[in-house]
Amino acid sequence: MCICRRFSTHEDPFGVRSSPKQTDHQRQMMAKGLPKQRPIEGVKNIICVASGKGGVGKSTTTVNLALAIAAEDPKSKVGILDADIYGPSIPKLMNLSGEPELSADNKMEPLVNYGVKCMSMGFLVDETSAIVWRGLMVMSAIEKLLRQVNWAPLDWLLVDMPPGTGDVQLSIAQSLPLKGAILVTTPQDIALADVRRGATMFQKVHVPVLGVVENMSVFVCPNCGTSHHIFGQKGAQKLSRETGIEILGEVPLDGRVCELSDAGQPIVVAEPNSSQTAVFKSIARKVLEKAS
Ligand SMILES: Nc1ncnc2c1ncn2[C@@H]1O[C@H](COP(=O)(O)OP(=O)(O)OP(=O)(O)O)[C@@H](O)[C@H]1O
Ligand SMILES: [Mg+2]
Repeated sequence: MCICRRFSTHEDPFGVRSSPKQTDHQRQMMAKGLPKQRPIEGVKNIICVASGKGGVGKSTTTVNLALAIAAEDPKSKVGILDADIYGPSIPKLMNLSGEPELSADNKMEPLVNYGVKCMSMGFLVDETSAIVWRGLMVMSAIEKLLRQVNWAPLDWLLVDMPPGTGDVQLSIAQSLPLKGAILVTTPQDIALADVRRGATMFQKVHVPVLGVVENMSVFVCPNCGTSHHIFGQKGAQKLSRETGIEILGEVPLDGRVCELSDAGQPIVVAEPNSSQTAVFKSIARKVLEKAS
């Protein structure tokens, strides 16, 4: 077989689509390699926050969205799973450190700040040590962070994904009963192209794409009030027109978001009346409506 045919993007190495020519036996054999979809005990709704491109603000969005959901639906219990094994950000963003305690049934207790339960590889390894693991070990670590944790009771679990559409993303999308995926992007063409790839991956595994968050959409100069579209303009709107994916919100590029994130004080809790918080709360309302 020609090499280009072997690596054709139309091939379906994970058996996501099954060919009409396959026999039942062949389908069963292919499904054997796929992760089984299992709920997490005591967790009602799971949503993942993903992006095709790195550094577009997934973790910042996850944290602020989790806090905005908790603010908009005060009775709900919210948690965050940091699925970024190689570069966990949640400990810093949520100002959490230390090792999780073990419960009587040998499960890890999530660490809690601002009322949100969190679990991250960053709690289990030293901040400076590099994880040098291959795919299977990463997958096994994620399974543990998902299922050997005392999450219950939880109404919303937000999964902060690593960037891209690789093994980890696909496994999570296939092994968890996700209510949906939120895609984060900047308005740049290069980021938007990756969003399309992300959306395609979720559609292939039948996970509804709840919408796109356009992060760093505009920079408003704090001195003169002029708007600057540093990463381009109307990118998400174009994407939305082309794909039908809803824009959940546009988060401005703002020094305070960055500063407060670094200090472990997400803007939604640190500045609850700011315009940035209003954007995250508006996104939260849409997510609650779409995924409930
Ligand atoms: N709206 C914003 N305004 C200003 N800075 C922001 C904004 N959103 C994110 N940042 C900053 O951009 C950097 C990247 O954000 P973040 O870590 O959330 O991205 P990410 O997509 O999770 O990255 P990775 O792909 O590495 O996981 C951080 O320093 C963060 O504070
Ligand atoms: Mg991140």
